[in-house]
Amino acid sequence: MENRLDKLARKNAEAMLGGGQKRIDAQHKKGKLTARERVEILLDEGSFEEIGRFVTHRSHEFGLEEEKYLGDGVVTGYGKVNGRLVYVFSQDFTVFGGSLSETFAEKICKIMDLAMKNGVPVIGLNDSGGARIQEGVVSLGGYADIFYRNVRASGVIPQISAIMGPCAGGAVYSPAITDFVMMVENSSYMFVTGPNVVKTVTHEEVTSEELGGAHTHASKSGVTHFTCANEVVCIENIKKLLSYIPQNCEDEVPFAACEQDADALVAGLNDIVPENPNQPYNMKEVIEMVADTDSFLEVHKDFAENIVVGFARLQGRSIGIVANQPAVLAGVLDINASTKAARFVRFCDCFNIPLLVFEDVPGFLPGTDQEWRGIITNGAKLLYAFSEATVPRITVITRKAYGGAYDVMNSKHIGADMNFAWPTAEIAVMGAKGAAEIIFKKEISTAENPEAKLQEKVDEYTRKFANPYRAANRGFIDEVISPDTTRRKLIRAFEVLESKADKLPKKKHGNIPL
Ligand code: HXC
Repeated sequence: MENRLDKLARKNAEAMLGGGQKRIDAQHKKGKLTARERVEILLDEGSFEEIGRFVTHRSHEFGLEEEKYLGDGVVTGYGKVNGRLVYVFSQDFTVFGGSLSETFAEKICKIMDLAMKNGVPVIGLNDSGGARIQEGVVSLGGYADIFYRNVRASGVIPQISAIMGPCAGGAVYSPAITDFVMMVENSSYMFVTGPNVVKTVTHEEVTSEELGGAHTHASKSGVTHFTCANEVVCIENIKKLLSYIPQNCEDEVPFAACEQDADALVAGLNDIVPENPNQPYNMKEVIEMVADTDSFLEVHKDFAENIVVGFARLQGRSIGIVANQPAVLAGVLDINASTKAARFVRFCDCFNIPLLVFEDVPGFLPGTDQEWRGIITNGAKLLYAFSEATVPRITVITRKAYGGAYDVMNSKHIGADMNFAWPTAEIAVMGAKGAAEIIFKKEISTAENPEAKLQEKVDEYTRKFANPYRAANRGFIDEVISPDTTRRKLIRAFEVLESKADKLPKKKHGNIPL
């Protein structure tokens, strides 16, 4: 028995070394952690249970039969994050650059299948050169097996991807299907193919950082939802994100104890909207004042900043927030803002997270650039996402709610449960000046003093429509509230909506305008 135990200990020790000490040292020299070190930081101490530690590849091509590493380039298993069960895979760059073999894929599929059966989130720590080139189509098949499972699991269990090294080819498509992507600044890249191939095909000269670095994907493509200063920050961010979301689509949303007074007034909210309707203010300040202290976790912070999305807590209850940002492009809805918000709304709806909307929107962005790139189809995504969401939904109109954007931003007409407006709200087809110029065009142009006439008509339109009362008369707004009562009104309204039960009509699935 002693010998057998020695053999097991030897093998375990060998597995701990992945692709060998030299490659581990090289990984550290680049400022990167190893696959196992990352798992250790992610999971509660002593909670990791590994699955498939002794798996090796089956390839005989290009001399690979002589080069085998226990675990074959990916560490898989389960453990706990702040006491909650998660499945995890962590790609090991020290073994063939973390490239994906047939058996590597099988290991990931195995934990994904277990996670689905048990209703537990999957966290993928990615650091991979893509398909293991020596294995050819077998590796491509392995990727497809993972993609298929990513899609099957979508909306059933949360899937979070961290990108912790260069990820190319197939290594980027699985993260793209998952719910959230996080990238580490200066050491992680995502691209379908790298700068060398780009140069050959399109003659563009571009660095890895420009092509697919964290900043690029955070601000230009929107592929990543978070960028993190280093790997430890990234892993901490995964834990934080998990704290807002449930284990699966049938689970209840996490609740954190809150010591704040649920009835307290928030005086600062009364002065936040400027007198001049064209003057910006920062909607994030509204969010911070309404949500539980320090509870706001912004998602997609650097992408389409004219809309703000993220998680927060309201008297301990986890909620998703979508808010127009008047401080950027006046909070206009454009293609990127619409797709960003639509994806977030759908995530929240998948996982029973109630939605809160703060609205101050002058409309959709006009112009050839937007029209030719499909603002119609893309704007419709947000309309679709809100309309199909069955979670509790509340809107607070702080200022402008103009035109189609009024409808889109979680209006009562598309199923919102409670809609509040501040006295500063202007709910109309458009701004008073634009409206007066159109409907009183003749009267203004033929007037003795056209400018004075225009002002008179602007004032008339403002009196009639640039307020929340017309909408409140109709019941489109449930209550016009003093801003300082917003937090307590929302706490009460979400409490009442906790037992909301709403279902979509029976269907296979809808056809969102992609
Ligand atoms: C096998 C690979 C590999 C791969 C890297 N390695 N990528 N082995 N298959 N795909 C090995 C290297 O041979 C090397 O082995 C070790 O990993 C480290 O690689 P380096 O190149 O030395 O590291 P670095 O300079 O940091 O560059 C990392 C890299 C680069 C940017 C990832 O290796 C690279 O460009 N790899 C190829 C990326 C790629 O084109 N993959 C295929 C995509 S096609 P040693 O023994 O020296 O340690 C694809 C299809 C799926 O994925 C599509 C599905 C939709």
